[in-house]
Amino acid sequence: MVMMILRKVRLLSVLIAFTCVVGYGEAQSRGFLVDCGSNSSTKVDGRIWVGDLAPNNNITLSSPGITAMTSTLEGNSIFSEIYKSARVFPDKLNYTFEGINRGSYIVRFHFCPFPIDSYNVNESSFTVFANGLRVMQDFDVPGEIAHKNLIFQSSSINSTAFSLVKEFVLPVSSGKLIVEFIPRKGSFGFVNAIEIVPVMEQLFREPVTRAGGNDVDLNLDGRGIETMYRLNVGGSKINPGQDPDLYRTWETDSSYMVIANAGVEIKNSSNITYASANDSSVAPLLVYEAARTMSNTEVLEKRFNMSWKFEVDPDFDYLVRLHFCELVFDKPNQRIFRIYINNETVAGNFDIYEHAGGKNRAIYQDYFDHVSSKDNVLWIQLGPDTAVGASGTDALLNGLEIFKLSKNGNLAHLMRFDSSGHSVNDSKMRIIWISISASVGTILLLTILVMFIVCFLKKTRGKPDKSKNGPPGWRPLFLHVNNSTANAKRMGGSLNLNTLVASTMGRKFSLAEIRAATKNFDDGLAIGVGGFGRVYKGELEDGTLIAIKRANPQSEQGLAEFETEIVMLSRLRHRHLVSLIGFCDEHSEMILVYEYMANGTLRSHLFGSDLPPLTWKQRLEACIGAARGLHYLHTGSERGIIHRDVKTTNILLDENFVAKMSDFGLSKTGPSVDYTHVSTAVKGSFGYLDPEYFRRQQLTEKSDVYSFGVVLFEVICARAVINPSLPKDQINLAEWALRWQRERSLENIIDPNLKGNYCPESLEKFGEIAEKCIADEGKNRPTMGEVLWHLEYVLQLHEAWSRKSNLEDSFSSSQALDNDEGTAMENQTLQGSCSHSGAAEDV
Ligand SMILES: *[C@@H]1O[C@H](CO)[C@@H](O)[C@H](O)[C@H]1NC(C)=O
Repeated sequence: MVMMILRKVRLLSVLIAFTCVVGYGEAQSRGFLVDCGSNSSTKVDGRIWVGDLAPNNNITLSSPGITAMTSTLEGNSIFSEIYKSARVFPDKLNYTFEGINRGSYIVRFHFCPFPIDSYNVNESSFTVFANGLRVMQDFDVPGEIAHKNLIFQSSSINSTAFSLVKEFVLPVSSGKLIVEFIPRKGSFGFVNAIEIVPVMEQLFREPVTRAGGNDVDLNLDGRGIETMYRLNVGGSKINPGQDPDLYRTWETDSSYMVIANAGVEIKNSSNITYASANDSSVAPLLVYEAARTMSNTEVLEKRFNMSWKFEVDPDFDYLVRLHFCELVFDKPNQRIFRIYINNETVAGNFDIYEHAGGKNRAIYQDYFDHVSSKDNVLWIQLGPDTAVGASGTDALLNGLEIFKLSKNGNLAHLMRFDSSGHSVNDSKMRIIWISISASVGTILLLTILVMFIVCFLKKTRGKPDKSKNGPPGWRPLFLHVNNSTANAKRMGGSLNLNTLVASTMGRKFSLAEIRAATKNFDDGLAIGVGGFGRVYKGELEDGTLIAIKRANPQSEQGLAEFETEIVMLSRLRHRHLVSLIGFCDEHSEMILVYEYMANGTLRSHLFGSDLPPLTWKQRLEACIGAARGLHYLHTGSERGIIHRDVKTTNILLDENFVAKMSDFGLSKTGPSVDYTHVSTAVKGSFGYLDPEYFRRQQLTEKSDVYSFGVVLFEVICARAVINPSLPKDQINLAEWALRWQRERSLENIIDPNLKGNYCPESLEKFGEIAEKCIADEGKNRPTMGEVLWHLEYVLQLHEAWSRKSNLEDSFSSSQALDNDEGTAMENQTLQGSCSHSGAAEDV
C-alpha cells in the first residue's frame, strides 16, 4: 500500500517536472499520454505514459471495453513497451479528457495489431470521432499497414511496418476532448495508445498561397487537420524525442522521390536560426540542418525536376508546407528555382536567401491545393526556372509536410481498397515524364544486372527440370534467385499473415490439411520451383484440385514477393486472374492455395515440351484472356496495378484452355512511380523488359504492354525470348521478330505447326499489334484495353476465315456473307486504328 502511494507520488512529481520542462506553462494546458489497456506507467521516449486504468481523475471511460495484452510484439518500435497492451471495444467506447484549455491540440492514435483472444484482429473495423469531428471511418488497421508496406516493399527503407500512428491537429473550444470509438456493426476496434499534446504556439498562419490562384483564408484554426506526411528531406529520421516541443516524427524522403538520383543530400549544422522568432515550434532546427539539392548531372543546365509523389485521399483540401534553409551560399541569386504542386506553379524565381534574409536562416512556406474526387496523388516538384539564367539553377528543400483539411466535419476517407472496382482513374492519365539522362553509373549497374541474369539463365538451363515428369507445371519467376540470406530471419522469417491480410483472403487451411492434400509435400507432386519456394499440385478431401505455393522461409526476397502476392490477390477477383482459395500460416509456414490450372503454362504449349501444339485460334484466345486479365489489373482498381512480370510462364491455362494471369509477386500499385533505387528498381524477366523502364526506371502500365508484345511474338514464333545458342542477331526474339514484322513478312518466322491453318490477314493484324506494343516509347504503345480490342478483332477475322474455308470445302455458295461481314466490320472500326498513337484514348 505504502509502496503504491509512494509510486504514485513519484509519478506525479515526474509528471509535474515533465510538464514544466516542456513548457506546458499554465496548469490546464496539459497533455495526456495514455497507455491504453494498462494500469501502470511506462517511460517511453523520455515521457511518462500513464495507463488508462491507472487512477487519473482527468480521463473517463464510458465503458470498460476489454483489455488485451501480449508479451511479444512483431517488429521493433520505440513505443514497443506501450504497444504491448491495448483496449479492445466490441461496442462503442468514449474517452473523455477533462481540464483542457481552449486551443489547438495534436492528437495521435497509436495502433499496433497483435493477436487478441477470440478476436480476429484482421476483422477489426471502427470509426473515430473527436469532439464530433469524424477523423477515421471503418478503419482497418492491418489493411492500412499492409498497404503501407506494399508501397515501401522494395524501397531503400528496408523495414516492415507493424504499427501505425494517425496524427490530427484539432481545435478544442470547450474544456474537454471526447474521443468516441465506434466499431462497425458485428466488428470491433482497438487502440494501443492515445497522445494529446497542446500546441502552444500558432502552427498555421493565413492567408495561404493557392496553387494556380490567389491567396486564400482557410479558417485553419477552426478546422480539423490530419497530418498525412512529415519528412525530413535529405536527412535522417527524426524521432519524437528529438522534437521536444510537439514530439513529431519526421520520416526520410527518398522513398517518395520519383527518381531518387535526381537529388543529393547535403548537411550543415552550424549556427542555424529561425528567420522569425515565432517559428520555433514549426519544426526543430534538425530539419533545417539537412537538405536535398538537385544532383549534378554533369551538364551545364539542369533540365529536370526533383519530384516527390504522395498518395492522398481524393476530394479534400491540402496544405503543403515546405521548409527551407540556404546552407551553402552567402549571397542571393545563387540558387533560384520554381515550385510546382500537381503540375501547377506555386512559386517562381524562388530564392531562399532572399526570402529568409540570409544564409542558415530557417523559413517555411505554405501552399494550398485541392485534390479532386477523381485523383489521389500530390506531386511536389522543384526545378529550374526557365525565365531565369542558368547560373543559379538549382533547388533545395529541407522539410516537407502535407496536411489534410477537414470538410463538413469530416476528415475520414473510406479504406482505399473497397472492392467496388472503380473505373479508370484520371490521375493515371497524368503521367508526368521527367527527363533525366541515365548516368554512366546507371548503365554500369544495368550491365552487371544483365550479365548476372544471363549467367543465371545458363546455370538453370543445365539443371534437370523438376516438373518434367509431372503435368505441365507452373514455372514461376525464374528471376527469383534463391538468396537465402541470414537476415531473412531479421523479421522472424515468418510474417504473421493475419496482420497482413484483409478478411477477404479466403479460407484458412490447417497445415494438416495441406499435408494431406500434397501427400506431405511429395516431390512427385511438385509442379514448379522458384525463389520463394515450391509449387505443389494437391487434392482436397472433396476432390478439388489445388495448387499450393509454399514459401521458403529462408528467402527474404521470396518473403517480400509473397506478401505482395497476398495483398494483391486478396483484393482482386477476375475470371482471367488465377484466384486465391486460401492460405495456411501454421508453424511459421507461408502457404498460399490457388485454383489448380490443369493445363499449366502457356509457354509449355508453345515449345520445349511434348505437348501437342495449340491451334492459332487457341493461341488467340489465350492472348485475349491474358489481355483481359491485364486490362483488369490496370483499370479495375482505384489505383491500377502494374503486373511487372508479364511472360508466357505467368500465363496459365485451365482445363478448358482459359488463360489467366498469375504471379503477382512483383506487382505494384500506382500509376507511374517506382520508389526504388536503380539497383532494385529494374525487376522483371530478361527478354520481356521494357527498354524505357530500363532507361528511366519509371514504371507504368505501358511496361506491361511492352512485355505483352513480346508474349505475342513468342506466341507466333514459338521460341524462347532469349536464346543464346542462336546467331547473334536472333538471340533476342523481340528484336529479331520486329525486323521481320517491319518488312511485313512474319509468315517467314511463324511456328511451322501453324502453317496453312491461320488466316493470313489475322496474322498481319496480330503482327501490327505486337509491333505497337513494343514501341520504344511507352507513350506510343496502346493501352491494354486497345490491345484487347484489336486482338478480339483478329480472332473474328480468323473465325470468319475458318468458317469460309470450311464452307468452301463442302458447299461453294454462302461465302459472300462472311466476306461482307468482315469487310463491313473493317470499314467501320479498324480504319486507322492500328496506326493511332495509343496514348490518346482509353477503353
Ligand atoms: C518540372 O515539372 C513541371 C510541372 O510538372 C513541368 O511543367 C516542367 O516542365 C518540369 N521541368 C522540367 C525541366 O522537366
